[in-house]
Amino acid sequence: MAIDFDLVKEIKQRADIVDVISYYLSSVQKKGKGYVAVCPFHDDHDPSMQISKDKQTFHCFVCQTGGDVFTFVQKYDKCSFEEAVRKVCEIIGFDDPRLHKQTYQRKIDENLLPVYNCINELQKYYVYALTTEEGKVARDYLDKRQLSQQQCAKFGVGYAFSDGKMTIEYLKAKGFSLKNIENTGIAIAQTSGMSDNNQGRLIFPIKDSNGQVCGFSARKINDDPEAPKYVNSPETVIFTKGNILYNYHLAKQTARHDGYVYVVEGFMDVFAFDTIGITSCVALMSTKLTEKHIELLRKLGCEIRICLDGDKPGQSAMMRLMAQLDEAHLSYRLVSVPGEVRDPDEILKQDGEEKLKTYVNSLVDPFNFALNYYKNTSPLGSIEDKKKVIHHFMPMIASIKDKLVQEDYIYKLSEATDFTASAIRNTLKDFKGKRVDCGASLTNVNAEVNTSLDLSKLSRDLRRLTLAERTVLDLMFVSDEAIKFYEQDIKYFYNEIYRSIANFILEQYKETGKIDTSEMINELNAIEIKNKEQIINEISAINFRKDKAKYSKKMLEDCNTVINEERTKIYEKNALRQACQGKSVEEQAKILKEYISKRK
Ligand code: UTP
Ligand code: MN
Repeated sequence: MAIDFDLVKEIKQRADIVDVISYYLSSVQKKGKGYVAVCPFHDDHDPSMQISKDKQTFHCFVCQTGGDVFTFVQKYDKCSFEEAVRKVCEIIGFDDPRLHKQTYQRKIDENLLPVYNCINELQKYYVYALTTEEGKVARDYLDKRQLSQQQCAKFGVGYAFSDGKMTIEYLKAKGFSLKNIENTGIAIAQTSGMSDNNQGRLIFPIKDSNGQVCGFSARKINDDPEAPKYVNSPETVIFTKGNILYNYHLAKQTARHDGYVYVVEGFMDVFAFDTIGITSCVALMSTKLTEKHIELLRKLGCEIRICLDGDKPGQSAMMRLMAQLDEAHLSYRLVSVPGEVRDPDEILKQDGEEKLKTYVNSLVDPFNFALNYYKNTSPLGSIEDKKKVIHHFMPMIASIKDKLVQEDYIYKLSEATDFTASAIRNTLKDFKGKRVDCGASLTNVNAEVNTSLDLSKLSRDLRRLTLAERTVLDLMFVSDEAIKFYEQDIKYFYNEIYRSIANFILEQYKETGKIDTSEMINELNAIEIKNKEQIINEISAINFRKDKAKYSKKMLEDCNTVINEERTKIYEKNALRQACQGKSVEEQAKILKEYISKRK
């Protein structure tokens, strides 16, 4: 970390969390012993965020976001820890020479620096070329496509001179080696000399999630039917197409706040969304969604809105994407207007802003999208076709908890396939009956406990265990006895988050003889650790927990009994789950029966 740890501590001592949060939120007000505010991290209407002046922490009891003053700024401004520290300095008017010693630098591979320098120089050159006399053809093209000057500046649009050799010479004169030039992806070193592959084209720089240019896509601006529409950078040391979502670096600044991100096919669609004021929009630059893309989208923590072209390939691609998103357990909707075959850019150009706004808000859930798809794109012919569609939807319909929604789906499915609703209901019953999976409670016990601290989502046994562990943890913050009890009797928590926090408590207690949550968050921020965000959220939650247990020796012992009981049960179940793995349904049922009779 570039700012040293002692300085961070000093800054934190000077900053008051109430003042800093008040700088961002006008809703901060005193309430009882502490302060409250309307939480900016979820759609809050009441003041759900609590701020403690004593502890210098905050916590929202609805969305569970919490932490110290730096966590707040980091989340609000969606910036790195270091940027948050600097921002806090600005807000409280604190300056120190140590802040300026090392300039802030993103973590990038030292070896790649010359390539980045070279591509940055090239990007500047392309932007310059757009302003020249030769660049007029490109400017005219941009006018025709109604891209404003502000938009060109925002997205770094440029032009590549038609003399491609000159571009290479320019970079050479700037001192870049042929190898580095080659690594930008614009040309290959040949004995006959190098020439820019993008020559004579409009340039769209492609940036990585930090906003660093890593490649280019060059559109033709003449009407040569032989020439490809776009020339893209090949895979290079700094560019892997499947790892990049176009415009992600800008979208990530607004997506969480807006609560959504649109996923579109092309650059032009991103610009169209920008025109109607939507920045939370990324382009696949094709119709393929990779694992890496899914992870990038997941990080945004918001609803995903798929908006591929209305034509047949676009719609089929949406069906493919749905399967991937379902598998990744991401929540999404799709833009769908039956009969619309144009892409967003075409809708904007032909029908104007209002039409596009209506279009992008025509969102349907996966079920309705798929149903429309079958109805319009590949109409259902034979009984076999229709049965396939019914089976396609079974898992989804079976998983719906709300009976009314389930009925609505059954009704629509019946309409689309001509099967009666009751026939579909029967199929659903059979389908549910077939899913013998050793009882839902056996699946993913570990996944459950490690990803969620929302008790209401846990199975009964796990809830009992988690609650007992949480009680002990709460007590560890207020009682030395509880800390010792944990170390000697309980020894470890099953819940990974609680276990990490308990370890921190032990460490701090041994070092300083007391527990200071704010200090603990400092330490956490300075290190790389798994589940960091959840751990910080949880620590800050403890300060504000209302149903906190009062310390007594008996309370600890009771918790210990529950913990021992439930831990044993869970381990048995895990063993059982392993025993069932790969076995036939009948064998699984047998194993399960034996287990149940043994327990009785
Ligand atoms: P489209 O053909 O839909 O392009 O391809 P577009 O965005 O609508 O562009 P305009 O309006 O014709 O100028 C969608 C995306 O697929 C990639 C590009 O990233 C494009 O934005 N593509 C398309 C290529 O890489 N190469 C091509 O030849 C065509
Ligand atoms: Mn287009």
